[in-house]
Amino acid sequence: MSTFSAPKGTYDLLPPDSATVLAVREALAAPLRRAGYGYIETPVFEDVALFSRGVGESTDIVSKEMYAFTTRGGDELALRPEGTASVLRAALQANLHRTGNLPVKLWYSGSQYRYERPQKGRYRQFWQVGAEAIGAEDPALDAELIILADDAYRSLGLRNFRILLNSLGDRQCRPVYRAALQEFLRGLELDEDTVRRAELNPLRVLDDKRASVQAQLVGAPMLADYLCEDCKAYHEQVRELLTAAGVGFEDDPKLVRGLDYYTRTTFEFVHDGLGSQSAVGGGGRYDGLSEMIGGPALPSVGWALGVDRTLLALEAEGVVREPAPSSDVFAVPLGEQARKVLFGAVTGLRREGVSADLAYGGKGLKAAMKAADRSGARFALVAGERDLAEGLVQLKDLTSGDQTPVALDALVATLKEKLK
Ligand code: HAM
Repeated sequence: MSTFSAPKGTYDLLPPDSATVLAVREALAAPLRRAGYGYIETPVFEDVALFSRGVGESTDIVSKEMYAFTTRGGDELALRPEGTASVLRAALQANLHRTGNLPVKLWYSGSQYRYERPQKGRYRQFWQVGAEAIGAEDPALDAELIILADDAYRSLGLRNFRILLNSLGDRQCRPVYRAALQEFLRGLELDEDTVRRAELNPLRVLDDKRASVQAQLVGAPMLADYLCEDCKAYHEQVRELLTAAGVGFEDDPKLVRGLDYYTRTTFEFVHDGLGSQSAVGGGGRYDGLSEMIGGPALPSVGWALGVDRTLLALEAEGVVREPAPSSDVFAVPLGEQARKVLFGAVTGLRREGVSADLAYGGKGLKAAMKAADRSGARFALVAGERDLAEGLVQLKDLTSGDQTPVALDALVATLKEKLK
């Protein structure tokens, strides 16, 4: 019988790398906790219409990449391709926008699913840490989120990233721009797919990576020239707040995100060591999304940071995170009686908050000491029948090699002192 592999575009997280991943998720979330964001979890699948209406029928995410399926009961569901629509759905369902003060600030950490062509940095299951601030229109909120993401990346030691910033306008000025851009695009020689995109989602054409298309786009109308006074003033305030906070950014008038719900502020964090999948995070304002999914008007802003790509970025910058040892103490019993006693000692240490492990499987001294070394523990606890007869265990410092006898009943106190 053949063995199984993880499905295409997915990978397993194994020790010791998995410990780094946990630490990265925690570091990305830490600034949010300090800024009043509360943790939220939503199901990994939702009504498919939540995404088609929210993220947008014309986006690649919905039209090509969604894991949609019909349940045995006939419900049309999809694995979530992103978190924003779900979080807003949950907030509306629980009436958080009515019971709490606005904005409702939420953060999440979870896997997302997109049927994309897998490559380095692009997976079919990937992990995001995200934040959404629901129900307030305030440039300080947009700036807060961008600053928090910047803080999060910096706290991990990342430096070679840039923030791209743009405004996509609002329901007043964007339609005017959209029409002007469409008019311009109709005059170009584009392939069938792109012509279709120009009709459905013309702003996405600006994002086309092909040089042949980009060459034709020279002279295309720019959104910045079409922004209404309100949008211009709003964007200027976001820019000022970022500058005052010492957060550098680049104005990118062509930044168009791959989701349809954005209005006004949009941004992306790009890392220069990642090749084509360079966006480590992104987000923006989505003032119309609530109404698009049947809720009241709730202007909101948020972002999601890609955990997988953040890890690749750390690797690219050579930021080394020392893996935490799996335990502080590793017990090596010599003989049956010692096994029982050390098993008890290990249990006692753990209950006192000292991480401890034991050589299982009846290993001999040599194999057991090797296991102790491999575990990364600072101390080995060795005991044979003779030590135990005297109520002792041998405490071996695995860094220096020093070995000292310790009374069994003083073990917890001694180790706590040494591990301080
Ligand atoms: P997004 O730009 O689609 O935005 O995804 C955010 C981040 O998730 C990306 O910058 C990237 O780091 C990571 N990511 C996306 N797709 C993949 C993939 N296939 N493999 C690995 N990593 C990936 C959103 O999802 C929005 N919900 C963000 C947001 C929140 N906007 C407002 N609030």
